Parts: sequence; C-alpha cells; structure tokens
Amino acid sequence: MAPATAPTREDALTSDEPSSDGVEDPSETVAADTISAAEQELYGGRLRYDQSYVRHERPLTRLKFGHMAAALPRMVGMVLRTGWHTDPRALAGVVTAQLGQGVTAGWGLVAVNSVLTQLFANGPTADKLRDAVPSLVMLAVAAVATAVLAAWSTAMSGRLEPQVERAVSARYYTAVTGVEVEATERPEVQRVLEAGKFGTDSARSMLRLSVGVGGVVIGMVAAAVVLAALHWALLPMLLAVALPKGWGAVRSARRDYLSRMNWVDHRRAIASLLAYLTRPHAAGEIRAHAAGTKLLSSYEEMSRQTEAEQRRLARAQASTDLVAGAFAGVASMACYGVLWWLLASGGLPLAVGGTAVIAMRTSTARLTSLVQQVNRLYEELLFITDTEDAIELAGENAIPPSGRPLPSPVREVWTEAVSFTYPGADSPALTGVSVRVPRGKVTALVGANGSGKTTLTKVLAGLLLPSDGNVWWVGEPGERVELREADRAQVFGCVGLLAQDFPRWEMTAAANVAIGAGDRPRDMDHVRRAAQEARVLDLIEGLPHGWDSIVFKGYERGVQLSGGQWQKLGTARTRYRQAPFLLVDEPTSALDPHAEIASFRGLWSLAEQGHAVVLVTHRLAATMKADHIYVLDHGRVVEDGRHEDLMAREGGLYQGMFTAQAAQYGHTPAPDTLPGPRGTRPSGHRTVS
Ligand SMILES: Nc1ncnc2c1ncn2[C@@H]1O[C@H](COP(=O)(O)OP(=O)(O)OP(=O)(O)O)[C@@H](O)[C@H]1O
Ligand SMILES: [Mg+2]
Repeated sequence: MAPATAPTREDALTSDEPSSDGVEDPSETVAADTISAAEQELYGGRLRYDQSYVRHERPLTRLKFGHMAAALPRMVGMVLRTGWHTDPRALAGVVTAQLGQGVTAGWGLVAVNSVLTQLFANGPTADKLRDAVPSLVMLAVAAVATAVLAAWSTAMSGRLEPQVERAVSARYYTAVTGVEVEATERPEVQRVLEAGKFGTDSARSMLRLSVGVGGVVIGMVAAAVVLAALHWALLPMLLAVALPKGWGAVRSARRDYLSRMNWVDHRRAIASLLAYLTRPHAAGEIRAHAAGTKLLSSYEEMSRQTEAEQRRLARAQASTDLVAGAFAGVASMACYGVLWWLLASGGLPLAVGGTAVIAMRTSTARLTSLVQQVNRLYEELLFITDTEDAIELAGENAIPPSGRPLPSPVREVWTEAVSFTYPGADSPALTGVSVRVPRGKVTALVGANGSGKTTLTKVLAGLLLPSDGNVWWVGEPGERVELREADRAQVFGCVGLLAQDFPRWEMTAAANVAIGAGDRPRDMDHVRRAAQEARVLDLIEGLPHGWDSIVFKGYERGVQLSGGQWQKLGTARTRYRQAPFLLVDEPTSALDPHAEIASFRGLWSLAEQGHAVVLVTHRLAATMKADHIYVLDHGRVVEDGRHEDLMAREGGLYQGMFTAQAAQYGHTPAPDTLPGPRGTRPSGHRTVS
C-alpha cells in the first residue's frame, strides 16, 4: 500500500475572501497571513498560493459573477459535448428524462388547480368530489410519471458520469504529459498545470449538477408558466424569493474556492508530513533520529492553522446564510402579502390563490435544492475552468507533434555552442558546450557536482531545448537535422535513458523492465535477455513470484530490492529499449565493485555493437578506456580528449580528479588487472504479504 502524497481536492481547502466588491476584508485574512513555527522551520516561510497562477485575468476579476455567468454555459457545453462523444444514448436519455419531468411538474400543477377549482365551486360536496376525480387521477399519473422519469435520469446519468470524468482526465493528462520539460520547470506553468489537476473530477460533478439544476429549473419554469397563466403578479414573487438565496450561494462558493486554492500548498505539506510517517524508506530515521516526533508535532501545529481557517469559513458561511435567509424571509412575507391583497380585492379567485400557495411552497423547496446545487456548480465551474486553462497552456507549450524526419541512420549527435539556463536560475547550467556523440563509441562526461553533466544528457536526449546553440542529429555527410525542427517522436525513439534519479515504478519486476518501451507490446523473452545483460535475471527469477513480484513492499506479492538491485533493474529497462543512443547517468553509483565492472563492460560491448554510449560517471577508472572524455566545469567544457591526453595536461582538472581518486587506493589501478565479474548470486530479499 502506498500512502498518497498527491494532494486531493479535499486537501486543497480553505482563506482570504474578497468581499463582493473585490476589496479584501482585513479581518478575514488573518488565518492566511499567520505563519506557524513548524511552517517556518520545515518550509522556510508561509505556504500559501499567491493566486498568480491564474492566467489572463486577475483572479478576482475571474471570480466576478458576470464572468462566471458567461463561463457557465461554455463549461456546461463542454461537459455535455464530452458526454455526447462518450455515450450519446445516455446523454439523450438524461436530457429527455429531465425535460419530461418539467412537463409532468407543470401538468401536476394544472391538475392541482383544476382539483381546487372544482372543490371551491358552488354545489353539494359529494358532487364536487366526484367531479374532481378525473383531475385527481391526472395528478396521480403525473406523480408516477415524475418518479419513473427521475429513476431513468438517475440510471442514465450514473452511466454517463464516470465516462465523462475519464474523458476529461484523459484529455488533461495527455496534454500535461506532452508539455516540453523546460516549460514544466517554469513555476508559472507548473502552477497552472498543477491547479488543473483538481478539476478533473469536477467534470463528473458538473454533469450531475447540471442535470440536477436543469431538472429543478425546468420544474420551476413549468411552475412559473402555470403561475403566470393564473396571474402575472405571481411570477415576480417567485423571483423575489429566489434572488437572496442565489446571492448567498455564489458568495459562499467563491469564498470556499479562494480558500481552497490559497491553502493548497499548506494542505499538501500536511499530507506529505503524514505520508512520511508510514513510508518504509523513512522508517529508520523516523525512529532513530526522532524525525517522527518532529513531524507529528509539526502536523498538529499546521493542522491547527487550517482548523482556524475552517472556523473562519464556517462563521462567514453562517453570516451569509443569515443575511440571505433574512432577505428571502422578507421576500416571502411580501409575496404572501401581495397574494392576500389580490384575494381580498377579488383580483384572484380563491382556488387560484390555493394553487399559488402550493406552487410557491414547492418552488421554495425546489429553490433550496437549486441554491445548493448552484453553489456546488459554481465551485466545480471554478475548478474545471482551471483544468481547461491547464489544457490550453499545455497545448501552447507542447512538444511539437511533428517535425523534420531524422536522417536514417543517425550516425552521431553534436551539440554546437549549446547554452541552457533553467527557468528561475541565476546562472546558466551550460555555456557554449560543443560535444560529439558518435555511434560505436563511448563518450564520457565527467566533472564536479553541479557542473552540468545531467543537464547535457537531457539536451542530448532532446528533453531540453538549448536557449542558444544547436543540437544536430547527423546522418551521412550532408544530412543533418537540428533538434528544434526535428520530429521529436523520432528523437525519443533513438534514445535510451538511465537517469541519475531513474523512476522506480511501483509495479511488477516485468513491468519495470518492459516500460522501457512503453509504446511496444511486452516481449518476455526480450525482458529476460535485458535482465540477463543487466545481471539481474537470477535475482528476479529466484523470487517466489518471479517476474510478477511487485518491486515495492506492502503489496501482496511485494518485495524490497536493494539500491544496487534497483539500479540493475533500471539498467535492464534501458537495455530493453534497444535504442541506438544510450545516455547513462551514474549507472553504477550503487553497485558493488564486481557488478560495477560488469556494468561498464556491458556498456563497452554495446558500443562495439554500434550504439552510441554517453557515460556520466564519477568513477574515473571507467573513463580510462572511453573513446572521448569531456570535462565539464561550471557548465563549460574545459578539457576534452582521451584519458592519456587529459592526464598529460599538468595541472589539468581531469588529471587532478583522477589522481585524487587513485590516491585513495594508494596507487593508480589499471582496469584490466581488476578481477572479472563473478556469477551474480541473487541477493537476499524478503517477501511481504
Ligand atoms: N531542474 C533544475 N532547475 C534549476 N536548476 C537546476 C535544475 N537541475 C539542475 N540545476 C542546476 O544546474 C546545474 C547543473 O546541474 P546538473 O544536474 O546538470 O549537474 P551534474 O553535473 O549532473 O551534477 P551531479 O554530479 O551532482 O549529478 C546545477 O547548478 C544545478 O543546481
Ligand atoms: Mg547529475
């Protein structure tokens, strides 16, 4: 079982609320401005969203009633269109059922009016009752029809809702995963994309609420039509009761939304504190270093802040409800006053007065439900607008879906005076870097921590586009394509990555290898071969559940791999991809000496088979045999050549690093004299059920 660290909609709660004219009430921002000692100590400051992630308009403009009223039809239209694409029959069913319910509601009122008219007519009671029977039957039929239609609507919307949620989620996640890596590094993009996550389940709620609101509105329109037919003055009365409640609903929804978004980072931090407490990898420090005590006390302190915010919201909600209720009460009294005056002055027959009272009472009940649903609809609308914004922004920053085809075959990749600065960074990570990565050779990148090696591998992989300079994908003489113009799907198709912080998928061992080629069907022979090459086959096949073992403790078939075993599994994944350009970033940092030597030998044999291997490593014994070594320092290539050339540079950076490392052993080791790899024994593992 994996504790969820991702924030949920409920995590994203609560804060400062502008008053309806957009001016913030200072007394309401207190909770948002406070910083707990825990927040300061663990996160270095206040964890609140500044709302700057909202694009195009200032957030408060966007929350204005007119703006939202304009957005509502667009979003409901989007949800309905999605529904139409996923299941047109269900959508048609829902709409028909709702329309039908409106008709039966109107029909019921007409029947009530006719019953009352007959009962209030002159004559013996027995005759009046007999005359009213057909109208009573009509009333009963209307009630049955309403019930049947409501059931049909429930069934159809139950079928439609999950499909709409899936469709919107798929659209959002497809868009987000297609964004340029560089764009995801920009905080303003990251925030919009992140905020969009909360709206994916809003599509489902919006559909349910739109159907609900649609039903209530149709019922009220039917009542209004009947009332207006009875007497025109009855219609404004209905509106007068409706307006204060509508105002209250919108105000509350807006306050809740602002609060949720403002406290999203705070909530997420609380969720991650709790997640650490049960994460296996933190279990040691939680106990031995008393990290658990610190986390728990911080959790309590930070939770108290959100509780204060909840209290503030509850108080504000109560006052809004009171004000709305008071206005609605005054409006109801005025309505009944008008009705009384109409009846007293003979402007309205008694029977119509009776119908009006019934219509107004049922309409008030409907109104209460309408207000609740509009409140939710408004809130969901805000979230789903975030999702739509995220999808739009993702589209603007998407990796181009096409481009110039790469030469076939690609012989090498060059970078030409490439510079790259991470968004928000003060200094460039790469400056004027020119390297050549040919097929059939091992190209090593070495340098101190932070010198730019990983960044350069990302540029070579086509994941980061340089801010200056070019990256050429080169084929036969005269054939070359620059990365920005290239068909990126083809670029990615040529690249196999073993990143420094490669993902550890919480899935089976087989899935962890086969996901190296996520666009191809799994081939188990091939998986086994890749594992054999990475020297992890015996280990996996020796597990009680073999390839079906989930390489994450806590699942029924879960096992715990060691750091080195994980690295071998990661290597198997890269091997499985069978790409001509392999970029391996510290592939042996967790391996024992024999496994490390075996891993390097494997890389050399891949180069002999015609792959281009880019090896990033701090183990300089391995770079001795590299075909070419680039030494990076503060984002620049300061030396390059073969090992012997670089060692010949007196006072050179490489010579200094190599000599320092060799000195730890008391001599300069020659790789050929190191013992060869022994057969890999499966390391100890534990299964957990
Ligand atoms: N995502 C990022 N956002 C901002 N700056 C980054 C990012 N990743 C790396 N950097 C910065 O870019 C510089 C180069 O980092 P890079 O990861 O390429 O170094 P490296 O040579 O791989 O280091 P190491 O040997 O520690 O792996 C560093 O100063 C680092 O702080
Ligand atoms: Mg690195």
